[in-house]
Order: sequence, then structure tokens, then C-alpha cells
Amino acid sequence: MTKDDITVRGFLPDGDSITKLSRFWSMSNSRTFLIPPIREFVERHITGSKVIVDPFANESRYGTITNDLNPAFDTDCHMDALDFLRTIPSRSADAVLYDPPYSLRQVVECYKGVGMQITQEKTQSSWRARHLDEISRILKPGGKCLCFGWNSNGVGKKRGFEMIEVMLVAHGGSKNDTICTAEVKL
Ligand SMILES: C[S@@+](CC[C@H](N)C(=O)[O-])C[C@H]1O[C@@H](n2cnc3c(N)ncnc32)[C@H](O)[C@@H]1O
Repeated sequence: MTKDDITVRGFLPDGDSITKLSRFWSMSNSRTFLIPPIREFVERHITGSKVIVDPFANESRYGTITNDLNPAFDTDCHMDALDFLRTIPSRSADAVLYDPPYSLRQVVECYKGVGMQITQEKTQSSWRARHLDEISRILKPGGKCLCFGWNSNGVGKKRGFEMIEVMLVAHGGSKNDTICTAEVKL
């Protein structure tokens, strides 16, 4: 792992804060939280959190309530992430780890892999939006959402979140960066 050049924190003229931004290089790994800078990012942000919800946990055990569609993983639940999130009481979580499949192709592969039917609603952009609505509902004010993927949209201002950190993890060659965001629910 190498740490790169940018670390920025500042304020825009309209009073909006600019998030801390950093960039690392590290080998890719389908188990995202094993990537060293990402492991550090997760551990740093969840410190002190009691209720940590992980709807796409795979083998990761940072969550105190874990779910993965694939029954091969030893998680608390094996539900579609949206159905799982709907079971979590409102304003009950201190942190949510949002590390879904990163592309439509990966979404489809995961459903096919467990023999589930792929409906239109699972292949639309509203698929992600519905998760984010639920995440916004279940987090306590002051709670954090950490998102991982190929964009830095996070849960978003419109849902009442403030971004506090963005970390880019480059993997070399023509691979996409893993983009990690940390937001606080206001
Ligand atoms: C990017 S991986 C998560 C990796 C994990 N954060 C880690 O560090 O090991 C995404 C996981 O989501 C699961 N998954 C895919 N679609 C799902 C869905 N609709 N609902 C719940 N889990 C899903 C996959 O089985 C896969 O284990």
C-alpha cells in the first residue's frame, strides 16, 4: 500500500465544508474491507459505534447485524438487502456499511448465483435509491454511513447527510478505483 499526495480539508465560500480527500494505491480484493487502507478507513469510522448494520457483509464481521443474499456466508440473515434493511427499526443504527455489487452486471450475477429471479426493479437505478432511503431511515442522527463503489455520491445531501471524507483507492492497470465515502446523518 502506498499513500499518495492529496489530503485536503477546507471550506467553500458558501459555508459548505469540503471533505477530507486522500488517495492510496493498494491491490484489489473482492473482499473490500481486507484492502489495507479501506480496513483502516472502516475501523477508524466505526470506532465507538454500537449498532453497525452491514447489508452486504460477505465474510466481513465489522457489522453487529449482518446480511448477505448468499447463504454460503455466515451472516445473521440471508435476505435481499432491501428486505433486510426494512426489518431494522428507525433511528436504531450508529453506522451502516454500504458495500453492494458495483455494477449492474455484478448485481445480476449475484441474483443469478442464488437462483433468484431478476425483476426490472432490481436492474434500475432506483434499486440503489431504495437502499439509501432505508439507510437514511435506520441511522440515528449523528450516525455514519460508509459507502464503497465506483462513485462518490454517497447517501447524499438531499437525504440529510454531510460528507466528511472521500478516499480513493487505486488498484493499477485499467482497474477502477474503489471510491470510499464517509457521511454523517445530520
Ligand atoms: C462487494 S461484496 C461485499 C464485500 C464485503 N464488504 C467484504 O469486505 O468482504 C458484495 C456482497 O453483497 C452480496 N449481495 C449481492 N447482492 C445482494 C443483495 N441484493 N442483497 C444482499 N446481499 C447481496 C454478495 O453476495 C456479496 O457477498
